[in-house]
Formats: sequence, structure tokens, C-alpha cells
Amino acid sequence: MAQLWGGRFTKETDQLVKEFNDSIRFDKRLYRQDIKGSIAHVEMLGKQQILTEKEREMIVSGLRQLLLEIEEGSLEISGSYEDIHSFIEANLTERIGEAGKKLHTGRSRNDQVALDMKLYVREEVGKFQQLLLRFLQVLLSIMEEHTETVMPGFTHLQKAQPITLAHHMGAYFEMFRRDFFRMKHLEETMTTCPLGSGALAGTTYPLDRMYTARLLGFQEPSGNSIDGVSDRDYLLELLSDLSVLMMHLSRFSEEIILWNSNEYQFVEIDDAYSTGSSIMPQKKNPDIAELVRGKCGRVYGALQSLLTTMKGLPLAYNKDMQEDKEQVFDAIDTTRMCLKLFTGMMDTIRFRKEKMEESARHGFTNATDAADYLVNKGVPFRDAHGIIGALVLLCVEKGISLDQLELSEYQKISSVFAEDIYEAISMDTCINKRLTTGGPAKEAMEESIKNYAAFIGTY
Ligand code: ARG
Repeated sequence: MAQLWGGRFTKETDQLVKEFNDSIRFDKRLYRQDIKGSIAHVEMLGKQQILTEKEREMIVSGLRQLLLEIEEGSLEISGSYEDIHSFIEANLTERIGEAGKKLHTGRSRNDQVALDMKLYVREEVGKFQQLLLRFLQVLLSIMEEHTETVMPGFTHLQKAQPITLAHHMGAYFEMFRRDFFRMKHLEETMTTCPLGSGALAGTTYPLDRMYTARLLGFQEPSGNSIDGVSDRDYLLELLSDLSVLMMHLSRFSEEIILWNSNEYQFVEIDDAYSTGSSIMPQKKNPDIAELVRGKCGRVYGALQSLLTTMKGLPLAYNKDMQEDKEQVFDAIDTTRMCLKLFTGMMDTIRFRKEKMEESARHGFTNATDAADYLVNKGVPFRDAHGIIGALVLLCVEKGISLDQLELSEYQKISSVFAEDIYEAISMDTCINKRLTTGGPAKEAMEESIKNYAAFIGTY
């Protein structure tokens, strides 16, 4: 038996139509959720005496048996079934006979599939939270180790001001913590159960929708049966959250690729997370970071695709909605893989402290501090800016950094300069005087680290 709806048809479905229409190829991954939803539905039918105690018992144990067989591999989800729902129902009936045909009482595939997807996404959203916490833990460990590792901070990809590696990683910690909160928020809003919406107009059977909702871990049944079968907002929210998460990973990838280049040499990616070239023996490529950056587009694509699918749909269920599955599954699989790999790569990456510090020293990253030095001695900031600008120009000509410039040269331009200029523009001063909350100073970073550790500790 392949179809659930042969009754009113006189002809076989065209083979190409069948291939086009069937969804089992991708919705088979919903088998656990489908069985779980069916068990809850049947428990409720039993409680409401819509099924007899014996029927309820037979169906529930038959479904449990099916789950067992699928999980241990003795029952393969294949064959010519239209979708996972028909597969489960047909196999149940094969095993328990007539009672199996009563499983679908008071239900439609429309509310069934809406439930299956919601259950699936709820689980995945929980797993994403765990993966994000693991990643945040890795970032935190890097921060703890590098509150004194000096590096240049950039704007416009030009060296701007000195910061520390801990500070830079802290920016990513904030970003991925927001991703964590977005996932948490999504989970907290997925509280209504679509089951019992029927095809669109509910059902004449005396269902106890609250009972089924509670059995499945929801707070309540969905408030409108038409919306119950046609709501895909939570999938759009998921795809949007995954897109932002991938955007963060992609920005991070871009930096790792730059930092790993011969020009920067800030990091060395572990051999286990690098790849070689088939022709150039010297190469160790950051392929993982590049692939993560590349796959970002695919997740954005899923969001755009589903938004477009949904935009013209009249109420209630339309088959277009079947298109949600492949996009959502692919976006989940892709993002999960990227997050896992990125976590491993960052956990094993080596930071070349000397190169980072060297780079910070040689990019006039302390020029702001040199100007502030003059301001502290009473020079108006705009004048100070001009004076330091001229000194930077002089250093560029000489090929040296500000701290290598003789005091006499400083004093030629302004008599305000004294020996303490060197202390004022040292990397240590530039960083550790920046004590503003969220700033790079060791003291400020230690405060952030304490807060981040406490945050992770609460989950
Ligand atoms: N495969 C369908 C989907 O994913 C299941 C619902 C089918 N409902 C229907 N009325 N044909 O949307």
C-alpha cells in the first residue's frame, strides 16, 4: 500500500507525478516525532473513549514496536510510500491489523505534519543551545589565557588601536551568546500544539486538545485550527536565527583566514583542521574556515526560499508548504556542522603572540594615546592631533615606530614632550589604561571573564 487516499481515484498516479509529489525521501527523518505524536494522539483518543481500551493498547504498543524496529535497523524506511505518515500507518496496520486503521481518527496529515516539524525543530533548537555553550566555553578559555596578549585592533582593516586577544575574542563571545539567547527565545515561544486542528476546521470528535498538548510538552493547543495547520513562522524564525549565527561564523572565518595568511601569521590552524594543495607542497590551507564562510549563503538561501514560498499562500494548508522541509533540514545540518567544526578548530588553533604584538607595535596603534598625552598636558585635542600626525609622517619616512623616535625629535615639534612620553605610549599603557567597562584593560577583561564564566555556569 503506497497511498492513503486511493478511494476516489480510478487511475494510477503517473510515475513522474508520484516522484514529484512524494516527500518520504526527506521527511523520513521525522519518524520519531511522527510516532511520538501518534502515541499521544491515541492516548487521548483512548481517554476520550473514541477508541476502546484494547484498540488504544494495541496501537500504542504497535507504534512502540515500529520505533524499536526502525532504530535497530530491522525496518528500513523505504519503498513506494508517499511520506513518513503513510509509511508508519501502513506498517502499523500490517502488524496489528484492523486497529491500525483507526490511528488516524480525528486527525489530518495537515495537523500531523505541523506537529512533527514543530517537535523536530524544538529538539534541534535545544541541541543548538548546547553546541553554542560548548563553543562559548572554548572562546572563554582563549580569553582566560590571553588577557595580556597584545594585538592590533582594526577599523577599515587598518591597524587602529592596541587591544588584547582576550578583548577580541570577547566580541565573539557576545555575538554567540546573543545567538544562544535567540535560540532560547525561539524555544520559549514554541508553546502551542497544532494537533487537533484537523485538516483546517478541527473535528467533530470530542478531542481533548489540552491533554494531547500537555503529553507532548506544549503549554496549550494552538488557538485557531486554520492557523494551526498553516503557521510556519517558527521555521522562518529558526532560519533567521541560523542565518545570523552563520553570519557570525562567517565573519569569524574571514578573520581566521586573514590571520592564517603569510602576511598576518597571527595564528596557526592545527593540522587536523587544515588541508593541503595537490600541486603546491608548501600549502596549508584554511579550508574549514573558507567552507564555513561559503556555506553561509546556503543558509541565507533557505530563509529567502521559505519566505518566498509562504508569501503568496492563501489559508489554510497548501502543498507548497512541503517545501519547508528540505530547506529547514539543510539549514540545520549545515549550521550544526559548521558550528561543530569551528569549535574544534578554535579549540586547537595556535596563537602566535609574538607576531600579534609585533604587528601592534608597528602600525602606530598608539598614536591616539600620544595625542592624549599632549591633551593631558594642556594642548587642545585638535592641535595635538596635528602634532602627532606630523610625527607619524616623520616616523614613516624614517621607517620606525613612535616609541623608537628620539625625544629630541619630539621636542623639535613641541616643547611639551618629556621623557614620560615613552611610558605614555607603551602598549601596556595603551591597553591597561582603557578601563571602561567592556574595554581591553586586563582589569576590565577579567571582570568580563568572570561574568561570562558565571553565565556559562548557569546552564
Ligand atoms: N508531505 C506533506 C508536507 O510535508 C504532508 C502533508 C500532506 N497533506 C496533504 N494534504 N497532502 O506538507
